[in-house]
Amino acid sequence: MTTYKICLLPGDGIGPEIIAEGCKVLDAVGAKYGASFEYTEAAIGGCAIDEFGTALPDETLAVAKASDAVLLAAVGGPKWDTTDPERPRPEQGLLGIRKGLELYTNLRPVQIFSALSEASTLKPEVIDGVDLMMVRELTGGVYFGMRERFYDEEGAGPNGSNGQRAYDTMEYREYEIDRIARQAFEAARKRRNKVTSVDKANVLESSRLWREIVHAIHDKEYPDVELEDILVDNCAMQLITRPADFDVMVTENMFGDILSDEAAQLTGSLGMLASASLGDSTALYEPSHGSAPDIAGKGIANPLAQILSCEMMLRYSFDMQDAADDIRRAVTAVLDAGWRTGDIADAATPADKVVGTVRMGDLVVENL
Ligand code: IPM
Ligand code: MG
Repeated sequence: MTTYKICLLPGDGIGPEIIAEGCKVLDAVGAKYGASFEYTEAAIGGCAIDEFGTALPDETLAVAKASDAVLLAAVGGPKWDTTDPERPRPEQGLLGIRKGLELYTNLRPVQIFSALSEASTLKPEVIDGVDLMMVRELTGGVYFGMRERFYDEEGAGPNGSNGQRAYDTMEYREYEIDRIARQAFEAARKRRNKVTSVDKANVLESSRLWREIVHAIHDKEYPDVELEDILVDNCAMQLITRPADFDVMVTENMFGDILSDEAAQLTGSLGMLASASLGDSTALYEPSHGSAPDIAGKGIANPLAQILSCEMMLRYSFDMQDAADDIRRAVTAVLDAGWRTGDIADAATPADKVVGTVRMGDLVVENL
């Protein structure tokens, strides 16, 4: 029996409720496949601000680094919303741990569960066959570039104005593009062998460098993989007109943030989308959705994205492919049997098939 150390970061809002279901499923699948999990909980986000005055206490990063994998739920909430740069924000916890663990690759798989195909706002024939992997660069770009806010000197602005000014910088270094491009090509080789690289090379210098490096690596080391470039604005459009044509999509941090929400919505619910953030050591797994403060504590949140994040953990950190397949099969079976949480229920769902967070977790466990 192998024991894996997992750093548990429930965070805010629905976080504690859904992460409990993730652990329940991990324990059940572990018992079946000969692994056990030892959890160490730590604080991140708004609750960490309340308790420690910072969204990412040193202790949390230390626990994460000492673990075999990190399972995170969600951070943030209206209580901590602020535009004051002097006040800590929950998101700093997330950005801090991504940087602290150097998690430069964010994988967000977008697949349609056929039982939920009606949930999409797009026509069934458009989303039919959608199976794409968003590979988002996660530790560079405008998220981590130089930024500043200041006052123009008296009379220095246009027309003698002296308002505030602010800037953010989108900067990429060659090695950052190099390593994420490799991740995308490697992922494509295990899938349908196609990479779409998204940039804004008609305007941005960082995108022109991006495109050059992606092509150089492709031509030298991955000529067998099909590569296409697409401008980010056009990509936003293509994602809802021909989503099934995409296999692996690779892009910089902020474009990936925006496009992955759009891609998630193809499935009809952000509540189904898992993600893995990988670097060269401890990886982190989290649902792509937020902390949903409006439904926190009500026991109605959808735990499936969290559970599917556990599936990714088994796949990428522990190489437990059969166990991971089992989780996916169980989730599919539960959905096929008609069970829904409120977010994925529709008018046709009978009331007795709409279940809460804990029951949904139990159903997945029963189907393992
Ligand atoms: C995400 C989220 C985060 C991001 C926020 C919460 C900082 O939107 O993981 O996509 O922008 O990366
Ligand atoms: Mg986002």
